[in-house]
Amino acid sequence: MRSVLVATMCLLGALVVCAQDSESDMSEMCANDHPAVACPKEGKEDWFKLGEGRCVKAFFAEPYLNYNDSEAACVGLGGHLVSIHNKSELHDVDCTMYRLTPGRPPYWIGLFLYFHYEDLLVYEWTDATQLDFNFWAYGQPNFWNDKEECVETNLYDWGRWNDLNCMYGRGHVCAVTI
Ligand SMILES: *[C@@H]1O[C@H](CO)[C@@H](O)[C@H](O)[C@H]1NC(C)=O
Ligand SMILES: *[C@@H]1O[C@H](CO)[C@@H](O)[C@H](O)[C@H]1NC(C)=O
Repeated sequence: MRSVLVATMCLLGALVVCAQDSESDMSEMCANDHPAVACPKEGKEDWFKLGEGRCVKAFFAEPYLNYNDSEAACVGLGGHLVSIHNKSELHDVDCTMYRLTPGRPPYWIGLFLYFHYEDLLVYEWTDATQLDFNFWAYGQPNFWNDKEECVETNLYDWGRWNDLNCMYGRGHVCAVTI
């Protein structure tokens, strides 16, 4: 079902969704433009630099955690689920996931829908940084069944965001400041 859907989306949105970041482009982009740079922070030597001030690590192993447990796991490591603020950071995160899982499975990122009160819903990052960039997949967020309050990445293409039920198990990407 999903592959039929993806094919349809690609026909409809070829320029938007499918023209960039194909998997063969990933190996080149990640080798040349976003290479793995070891994190300079003590105890985080197996993490990677993310932009200037942070390090990042992707986790993809059973048991796949729901959203809250993923955020709690990142907090336990001194950080939060990753927030993403520009295209360069997006690609750093994409390449971190790509090196671990070139098959492009979904991962939780730090974006979630915060219920201020009944009719004011605002996307926020779990690390409380500003929402100043987005990279939604085509047609997302769609609030499917009114039950999609958390955000995963890698829908249809690398780095593309999708709102999803928070109880699903996913890989997750954590970031720490350095
Ligand atoms: C993206 O953000 C990083 C900080 O993580 C900054 O160093 C970099 O200059 C920004 N790049 C662009 C293209 O805005
Ligand atoms: C997730 O955590 C938030 C904030 O701590 C809490 O308000 C919410 O009820 C939790 N959701 C679930 C499904 O545990």
